[in-house]
Formats: sequence, C-alpha cells, structure tokens
Amino acid sequence: MSESVKRIRVPDLKEKKKRGEKIAVLTAYDATMARLLERAGIDVLLVGDSLGMVVLGYETTLPVTLDAMVHHTAAVSRGASRALVVADMPFLTFQISVTEAVRNAGRLIQEGGAAAVKIEGGAAVVDVAQRLVEIGIPVMGHLGLLPQSIHQLGGYRRQARLVEDAEQLIADARALELAGVFAIVLESIPAEVARETTAALSIPTIGIGAGPYCDGQVLVSYDAFGLFEGAVPPFVKQYANLGEQVVAAAKAYAEEVRDGRFPTGNSLP
Ligand code: KIV
Repeated sequence: MSESVKRIRVPDLKEKKKRGEKIAVLTAYDATMARLLERAGIDVLLVGDSLGMVVLGYETTLPVTLDAMVHHTAAVSRGASRALVVADMPFLTFQISVTEAVRNAGRLIQEGGAAAVKIEGGAAVVDVAQRLVEIGIPVMGHLGLLPQSIHQLGGYRRQARLVEDAEQLIADARALELAGVFAIVLESIPAEVARETTAALSIPTIGIGAGPYCDGQVLVSYDAFGLFEGAVPPFVKQYANLGEQVVAAAKAYAEEVRDGRFPTGNSLP
C-alpha cells in the first residue's frame, strides 16, 4: 500500500494537531458518498445521526435508531478504504447505562465497521467514555450545541455565550480528555471559546459553527453540497448546489421520456 492510500487511524489525528495540520471531516451516510469524499481526500467520515434529518426526513435526530446507524455505518465502511469512519451513537443508546453503551457501541464497531464512536455530552457521559476507551473502543466527544438535547435547549441556538457556560464547557472538555476521548466536536459556540478550549487540550477539536481556531472542521455534507432542502444553519458554507443539478437532470430525463427522445436508437440494447 503506498503512503498516499495509508488508512487514517485514531492516533494520526493527535499527530496532525501536534504538526498544526488541520483535519477535514464531513458526514457520510452511504457507500457512494463515502467513495467520493475519499477521492477528495477527506480525513474523517462521520456517520452522524444528522442522518435522521437530511436522509430519513425526520424533524430532529431523536428518532434515529441504533439499527439505522448500524445499517448506514456499514454502507459507509464499505465505501471507505482510507478515511477514519466514526459513527454517532444515537439518542438513548449510551445514556441508560454503561453496560448498554458498551453493547451498542460494540455493534457500531462489529457490524458497522466503524473505527470509533461519537457521543454527545460532558460530565454526564464521562463514565461511558472512560469504559469504552478502556475496552478499546475509541470515542469522539461532542460539546456545545447538542442536537439530542434539543427539547431542553429550546432550539438550535449558539451555546456557551455566558462566561460560566464557557467555563463549564472547557471543564467538560478537560474531563473528556482525561477519560481518554481522542477528539471533541465543538458545535455552535463562540470562536473565542473554541480557541480557549483548543488551547487547553492536547487532543484535536473539530468545529462546526465554532470559528476558525479549532484543529479541524466538520460540516453536514448534505448542507455543504446544497442537497438538503430544509433549514441550513447560518454558519454553513455551501460549496455546491447539487440539489438544483439533480432537479435539472431529472427534469431533462422526464421531458425526454415523455417526448420519445429517450431511449434513442443508439442507446437501445
Ligand atoms: O450528526 C451529525 O452530523 C453531527 C455533526 C453535526 C457534528 O453530529
């Protein structure tokens, strides 16, 4: 295997932080997208539970089941030969007990083929993170805006704006690092809080709506490529408008079928 196709492993991310190399992360939910994102050199493919909103048509991430995550993680793993595949643990699969969390994370690794799992939360999930790491399952943390707590938060609002909330977030990040997590997603927090958190940790921070000072960035691919027609957070940069291209292509196809231009003579079997 040549150096250019060497698989990215969990420890490589910390090395990237040490070298000051930024980490590029995108979400993926199927094998085809995983292959395309790999060709683009994306380092980490996150099978986010955003799956529920951008692919499955739910209003929130809460209805996403472990079975759905295992199914989509397995598809992404089949399409990924270089990128690190990280699978989100969906709502209520890691909060009930450490034992259940171990069993459920185990399915994402064993059946889904993920190399690591992601869990939302701070102090409340430190015991789960610690146990998973102890038994060899790498864990990515997630602080700031926690979509699985949307009802408690009351909306998808920027978090950690007050000094005490920012201090709590940094304390949570330190506790997660001590528990052994290998990276932490920081979602929708002020850039200065992300900068301080990043400086306080030796593991990488991966920002989404958290400004430029994180060690890496993640976006929901369907938002970044213009595929999702629902509300897209204001911090998202849209790198393409694939949704419009799909509509135009489907319209052209329908017109050709209806007026008999497809199939043509030379596309007949
Ligand atoms: O579910 C997801 O896609 C995520 C990212 C937004 C970080 O958790």
